[in-house]
Amino acid sequence: MLFTSLIRTIPHYPKQGIQFRDITTLLKDPIGFRIAIDELAKRYSDQKIEKVAGIEARGFIIGAALAYKLGVGFVPVRKPGKLPAETIGHDYALEYGSDRIEIHTDAISQGERILLVDDLIATGGTAEAAALLIQKLGGEIVECAFVIDLPDLGGTKRLAQNGLKSFSLCEFEGE
Ligand code: PRP
Ligand code: MG
Repeated sequence: MLFTSLIRTIPHYPKQGIQFRDITTLLKDPIGFRIAIDELAKRYSDQKIEKVAGIEARGFIIGAALAYKLGVGFVPVRKPGKLPAETIGHDYALEYGSDRIEIHTDAISQGERILLVDDLIATGGTAEAAALLIQKLGGEIVECAFVIDLPDLGGTKRLAQNGLKSFSLCEFEGE
């Protein structure tokens, strides 16, 4: 499946110079969405994944569908102030701007095998922050899975420098 052909590019969004890769066109395609989730599920079905952690907001869509398909629990990694119980958080720099993400302290148990999921990796700041939180709670990150990698922005290299493996369904080069 050529996932790139189902992903829409919006030039100069949310600001000048950014090529926004929009997965809503993939998500609304019933076959594209299904095959994307099925391909990820196939890769991880024998990896003894115990939980999928998805990053707000677009990582929820992919992560929740994948967790359901794998038959495991789903853990949300959220933007600040959204989780009601006790949390830990981490501040990070984004491709544009800066942000913070949080996770419930009881979301993950010591030694649990976690698949970290987001729609896209650019600089890797978001995934790195999420991975750090998961590891702080004792989770073992099996891999970080994305629909889209923007390799020129160095995110997967950054994760690799932290000893984290990553996988993506497609890439857009020349960002
Ligand atoms: C986008 C994207 C990733 C992140 C990637 O999220 O969905 O989560 O940026 O960038 P990075 O690799 O440079 O950290 P964003 O917070 O913009 O929006 P969302 O809430 O719609 O997912
Ligand atoms: Mg996001």
